[in-house]
Amino acid sequence: MEKFIIRGGKRLVGDVMVSGAKNAAVAILPAVILADAPCTVENLPWIEDVNILCDIFEQLDVRVEQLSERRTMIDPTKMRSYKASFETVSRLRASYYLLGAMLGKFGHAEVALPGGCEIGQRPIDQHLKGLRALGAQIEIERGNIVAHCENGLVGAEVYLDVVSVGATINIMLAAAKAKGLTTIVNAAKEPHIVDVANFLNLSGASIKGAGTDIIRVHGREYLGGCTYQIIPDQIEAGTYMIAAAATRGDVCVRNVIPTHLEAVSAKLMEMGVRVTEGDDGRDFFIRVQADKAPRPVNVKTLPYPGFPTDLQQPIMAMLSVAKGTSVIVENIWEDRFKHVGQLRRMGANINIDNRVAIVEGVKALSGAPIYASDLRAGAALVVAGLMAEGRTELNNVDFIDRGYEAMEKKLSALGADIKRASDGKAMVY
Ligand code: EPU
Repeated sequence: MEKFIIRGGKRLVGDVMVSGAKNAAVAILPAVILADAPCTVENLPWIEDVNILCDIFEQLDVRVEQLSERRTMIDPTKMRSYKASFETVSRLRASYYLLGAMLGKFGHAEVALPGGCEIGQRPIDQHLKGLRALGAQIEIERGNIVAHCENGLVGAEVYLDVVSVGATINIMLAAAKAKGLTTIVNAAKEPHIVDVANFLNLSGASIKGAGTDIIRVHGREYLGGCTYQIIPDQIEAGTYMIAAAATRGDVCVRNVIPTHLEAVSAKLMEMGVRVTEGDDGRDFFIRVQADKAPRPVNVKTLPYPGFPTDLQQPIMAMLSVAKGTSVIVENIWEDRFKHVGQLRRMGANINIDNRVAIVEGVKALSGAPIYASDLRAGAALVVAGLMAEGRTELNNVDFIDRGYEAMEKKLSALGADIKRASDGKAMVY
């Protein structure tokens, strides 16, 4: 286990480049399985979740070749197996996309039940409902999801009972090669859903409506290869925007799509932070400038375009030193407040009642030995450590490596005093 040693109190100043979107990458890689020719994926983020998917590909005879730092060739044409083992799959939430992709390609799939961050019950009933509507027979056997469709999938109308990113993408993947028309009603609208649809369309699929709540997929028999560039990660960008504001810094977050960040920009402005969007001719950027303690605000997490649950934890860290009381309501995940105990160890005054956190701003946080319980809790505690007086030792940073590329290097380049050490302690929650 590794840890970060952070000496807080430094203003972040300078430029930071955002990497490719984790939650797009972990869906587009499985989507490549559907192609009948090699694909080149550009701007893959170098994070642990991507490494795990590449390990799974190796076991499935999908060839991965690094063409250059940001170009990866993936050849699924020799893939014969449709089984993804527990050992690899249990390390990753997004392994459920292998189900839709392998079912779409082979009419069979056997995938261990997914792992990932412990932030709630995380059922996949809507994924299974959608795949069953397309004709798949699905059983859970010894911890594996076993899905078959002897005569191939057939398009259908699927109404999602909850707005689910994962179910929307999984059904889109399975439907891309199904016979006829699939309609997904009450679909999620996150930017990575549009990104996966764009990738599939460039490979020859016919998907319309991605980014709205009704998506129509006309199945195609053949999907050729393509070269596709993954969108920038709006959650990584939002994390650096919050870190910049929390340290009362002045940071240009580069390689962003500003519309994907409107909820975050609006909330930061409500807190008294100066947020400006710009275009340097090559990339869009967002500049964040702050020089005083934030004003308290209320935050409710919602599906896109609402405020993202994946930034609820980092923004809470910042609000722990606001001038007054903030109320945060977590509407997506029922157990995404595990970072609160750690923030309290740093002096924060936060009370939890079910899905509501009441954050009474304190004057300052103080550094402490703390643990990350999941990916975004880790990001929140980094923000807290950067703001705090003194030394913070953040353990369990393996969670952060799952979704942030070289976080400590990017922060160091902005002037943070943050170092990685290898003698961290693991804590199981
Ligand atoms: N849900 C169901 N049934 C389902 C699927 C979801 O009841 O079959 C519920 C969930 O329990 C949750 C809500 O619907 O309450 C939304 O879940 P969703 O399916 O949208 O989440 P997900 O696809 O499992 C993705 C991201 C998460 C992010 C959520 C919400 C990936 C790999 N993960 O999860 O990202 O929080 O959407 O935006 O795309 C993260 O990056 O840290 C992370 C957890």
